[in-house]
This record gives sequence, structure tokens and C-alpha cells, in this order.
Amino acid sequence: MESNLVQAVVAVLAVLLISMQCGRALWYVMWRPYAVAWWFRQQGIQGPPYKILFGSLPEIRRLLISGRANALDAGCHNYASLVQPFFQKWASDYGKTFLYWLGPIPAICSTDMTIVKQVLGDRTHLFQKDYLNPKFEIILGKGLIFVNGDDWKRHRRVVHPVFNQEKLVSMSAMASECAQQMMERWFAKIKNGNDHQAETDMLGDFDELTLTVIARVIYGENNQDARDIFQLLQEVRDLTISSFLDPPIPWFRYLPTRRNRRSRQLDNFVTSKIRRLIHERLARKDTEGGYGDDVLGVTVKAWSESGTLSVQEIIGECKTFLAAGQDTGANLLTWAMFLLSSYPEWQEKVREEVLRECPDSIEVHSVEAMGKLKLLNMTLLETLRLYNPVPFLLRKTAKDTILADIRVPKGTTITIPIAMLHRDEDIWGADANAFNPMRFESVASRAHPNALLSFSLNRLHHHSAGNDLVQDGFC
Ligand code: HEM
Repeated sequence: MESNLVQAVVAVLAVLLISMQCGRALWYVMWRPYAVAWWFRQQGIQGPPYKILFGSLPEIRRLLISGRANALDAGCHNYASLVQPFFQKWASDYGKTFLYWLGPIPAICSTDMTIVKQVLGDRTHLFQKDYLNPKFEIILGKGLIFVNGDDWKRHRRVVHPVFNQEKLVSMSAMASECAQQMMERWFAKIKNGNDHQAETDMLGDFDELTLTVIARVIYGENNQDARDIFQLLQEVRDLTISSFLDPPIPWFRYLPTRRNRRSRQLDNFVTSKIRRLIHERLARKDTEGGYGDDVLGVTVKAWSESGTLSVQEIIGECKTFLAAGQDTGANLLTWAMFLLSSYPEWQEKVREEVLRECPDSIEVHSVEAMGKLKLLNMTLLETLRLYNPVPFLLRKTAKDTILADIRVPKGTTITIPIAMLHRDEDIWGADANAFNPMRFESVASRAHPNALLSFSLNRLHHHSAGNDLVQDGFC
């Protein structure tokens, strides 16, 4: 009799719990999105209609696939129409600021510079970094790119010594040496090629170059481990890209799908490899070279002396260093070469400047010499504008807030579509889609002082051309 009663109570509780969970799920995927869409509509913010559970993701997928079928005309640099056709369409249908849906999560996308400045310039941590897909954290680590508020300050303090001027100078010397070696391989290829010509896969070569530089800068001469870790992270990256349009629902990542299991397995491999490297450095503390003077050594030293980050957090930073700079660097260099070969007159000007300012090729690596290469810097800035390696930034509102004059509820994603902003004619003028490095000749010649968002806000605008990339160093 008593056990029947217990069973009945358990059954009632179970039904109650399941109904509550179903109710919450329904609220989350149905009622709330419609209420939020209505709320924004009242304020004049429109967007594509919400589709239950998946939001705008099916439309994004459809537009991406149809966008890929279009090729750009020679001389047309509007690659946003290939990589973000959905933002372009919605901006033309609904205006500069519109609402779309990342699954059931409301997302405001805006090319209004007042909003961009408010979001990226925020120092109160109201707009938190949140890249939705947790697999990004496996690739980039829970390091500076993902942490917010006081956590960000703690991380930044430990990582700070890595980016001092002296370190940047020795890093650029190392990068220069690696680039020389790559060019010697090119020369050899050309010498042995038919008619002294040779073909090379630029992206492949620059992938290798940036990996070599970053692996050496971070992990020193003996960096096979860094390369192994990087290969594993590349696999996670490919898995992440293929899962990008999965519904961003919290429990989705816990499902034992093949992709999820493989990502977790790779994460464990990477984490244990980095943990071993850190322990090796700690064990070297009292030897002659100490922790080592590469980025790993400097970081481990600062970490062990400050004691403010956990092992997991410092592992996150090690991943960040490795993953954040490789793709971005290789992309920038590849597109710069593409643009210089498309515009031979600029190729000529830049070559002439390098030969004039740095007659001794060894000099090229010095930071002062880099400061003299104005045309080269302007070309790189224009490359970043047209083919920015990071095409959008995401933030999430930590509480209800007012964005420009729009009331935005807590938990809304804010999208800053850099690729679109970088070719906005209201900002850059009628030639926004053309290659014109002269627009970076001086601060005065810039259409809008904050408009180049390649490294987010406020990184470049106050420097004159020629010093921009040098002074900012790593982002
Ligand atoms: C052309 C090359 C690069 C581009 C375009 C680029 C772009 C960016 C952007 C847009 C952000 C801001 C992300 C956000 O606010 O959500 C960022 C942050 C960051 N990047 Fe890069 N990056 C480049 C190279 C590198 C390199 C070489 C490294 C290091 C090895 C690096 C390490 C970082 C770190 C640590 C942060 C976080 C900074 C902080 O919040 O304090 N990046 N980068």
C-alpha cells in the first residue's frame, strides 16, 4: 500500500517535471520569439519571420548556397554578397538595423555606426562576447577572445608581458626570417620552372608561413607539439563550420552525435598536450634558461607568479594564441597578394617603396623600417577593409538595455557585420567596392575615423598611415 503511494507520488512528480520542461521549451521556442518580434515591431524594427526552433537558419543556409553559385566579376570586390548574402538581402528589405533569428535567439544586426560604436566601445561589459557555438571555445580556448568583465581583466594582466615592445621586435625578426626562407623556396621554384615561371598555392604557402611563425614565437624552436595541436584544432574547426547552422540550443552539444563526440575527443587530446607543455615549463623554472623566453615561457612565468588564473584558463590562452593568429594572418597575406597581382601599378609602387626604404633586405624586419613603408601599410589596410579575415562580430546583451533608441531585451545577440560595414557607401563613399589604398593616406582622407573594424573598434583610427599595423602589433 505504502509503496503504491510512493510510486504514485513519483509518477505525479515526474509528469509535473516533464510538463514544466515542455512548457519551458514551448515558451522558449514559440511564445517568447513571437513576443520579442512583436516588441521590436512596435519600435519599427522588422526582419525575416521567425520559424519555429530554427529561426532564420534555414533561410541563411538557402541564401548561402544560392550565393555560392554566383561568381564575382573581375575587379568586383563585393565578397560580402558571397559570404553574407543574407545580411545584404535583409538590410535591403528591412533597413540598416533589423531583427533575425539564430534558432530561437533574437539577433539584432546593424550597420548604423551609432549602434556599432555603442556596442564595441562599451566598457561596462553590457555587451558580452558570446559566439553561441560552444565549439568555438574548443578551437580558440576560453581565453581573451571569449572572456568578459573582471575575468577579461585577470586574463589580460597575465598575458600583458607577452605584448611588450621588445617582444614584438623579436617576433617580427623571427617572422622576417621565416618569410625569407619561404621566398627562397619560391625563387628556387621559379629558377627551375619553364621560362622562369612557376605556379604556387598562395594560401597553402601562407598557411604554412603563419603556422611556422606562430609555432616558433609561442613554443620556441622545438615546436612539433604546437604543430600537432594545431592540426587537431584544424579538425575541430572543420567540424565547427559544418555544425554552424545547427540550432543553437544549449543541450544540443551534449547529444552524442558523431561530430559532438569527435569534438570532445579532440578537445581532450589538445588539452592534455598543452597541459603537458605547461608542466614541462614549470619544471624548468630553476634551470639556466628558466621558463623560456618564447610566448609560452613568458606566459607560464607571469601565470605562476600571479596565481590568478586556473590551469584550465591558461590552457585556454595557449589555444587562443595558436588559433587566433594563424588563419587571420594567412588570409590577410593571401588577399594582399591577390590584390597586388590584380593591380600591377600598386605592385610596382609598393616594390619601389620597399627597395627604396629598405635597400638591405635584412632591414625589412626592423620595426622602424616597417614604419617607413607607408604604401605597403596602406595596401594592407585596404586589404583588411575589402577582405577582412573576421567578417562579423557578435555580442550578447547582459541585461535589458537601450541601443541607440531601441529597447533591447537581455539575451539578445547583437551582430556587427564588418564585411558589409567595410563596403558601405554612406561610410566609404561611392567607390566603397573599389580597391583604393589612397583612402588610408592620412587620417583626414579617411571617410570615417572608426570605420575600419578589422581589429574591432578604436584600434587604428588615431594612427597615421604607415604606423597603423606596426603600432597595433597583435590585436
Ligand atoms: C590580420 C590578423 C588579425 C585580425 C584581422 C584579427 C582580428 C581580431 C578581432 C576582430 C578581434 C576582436 C574580437 C572580438 O572583439 O570579438 C581580435 C581579438 C584578439 N586577437 Fe586577433 N586578429 C589578427 C591577428 C591576431 C594574432 C596574430 C594574434 C595572436 C597570436 C591575435 C590574438 C587575439 C587576441 C588575444 C584577441 C583578444 C584581445 C582582447 O580581447 O584583449 N590576433 N582579433
